[in-house]
Amino acid sequence: MTAQNTPKHIAIIMDGNGRWAKQHKVPRIEGHHRGAEAVKRTIKVAQENGVKNLTLFAFSVENWNRPKLEVSALMNLLERFLSEQMPELIKRKIRLRVIGRYRELPERIQALLHEAEETTQDYDEFTLGLALNYGSRTEVVDAVKAVAQAANAGLVDLNKIDYNSFRQYLYTRDMPDPDLVIRTSGECRLSNFLLLQSAYAEIYLSKVLWPDFDEAEFKAAIAEYSSRERRYGKTTEQIKA
Ligand code: IPE
Ligand code: IPE
Ligand code: MG
Repeated sequence: MTAQNTPKHIAIIMDGNGRWAKQHKVPRIEGHHRGAEAVKRTIKVAQENGVKNLTLFAFSVENWNRPKLEVSALMNLLERFLSEQMPELIKRKIRLRVIGRYRELPERIQALLHEAEETTQDYDEFTLGLALNYGSRTEVVDAVKAVAQAANAGLVDLNKIDYNSFRQYLYTRDMPDPDLVIRTSGECRLSNFLLLQSAYAEIYLSKVLWPDFDEAEFKAAIAEYSSRERRYGKTTEQIKA
């Protein structure tokens, strides 16, 4: 695979843990545990294949509406995952960036996230974005509020705002837009994930349930991406010229 065809930024909607659990006749949380193993595998494969940014949708603003027990089990899993992965982030020089309203997460998790972001902030080879308590609509509302505050304070001229300056107010301000968005489990929707940033992303819908997502399926997604022509509104002839 040529470096030119490797997506710089892959974003993944990790879906299907619950259905995996049902298939295997185990509790849903076991599906989430297996999902966490798939996360570790996927980060490794992304790094080995020259992907520079990987963003994973781990918990949406809408996921708070799940049964209380599932939400608290997910938070416990996240806490354990973060403490366990801290040495790995350092060992493999992974910069962690959290996107979402993470101030609404349990304090113990906020503390871990804060520590991990601070410790890894200077790594520039690979960025892992974790979307936690993330939703595109809340992101846009937060960005609009921040722009309005800056305008009130006389720091920005509203007449001069274009998308490029607006995007500086998004949670993803220091990440490139995703080139490829993968959703597992066969669902065909974006579920409020990176809607603005994915405006021109290629989309790959995988039938695989997230806990079964492996190197072969990841490479299949990258290969499919490489075969596509991104035209950005232009014609094929213009692209080939
Ligand atoms: C994705 O798997 C994990 C989260 C959304 C936290 P699901 O839990 O949504 O799995 P399904 O969709 O019920 O199979
Ligand atoms: C999207 O999956 C959120 C995450 C992967 C974290 P969901 O399972 O919550 O999405 P819907 O409800 O099926 O759209
Ligand atoms: Mg789901």
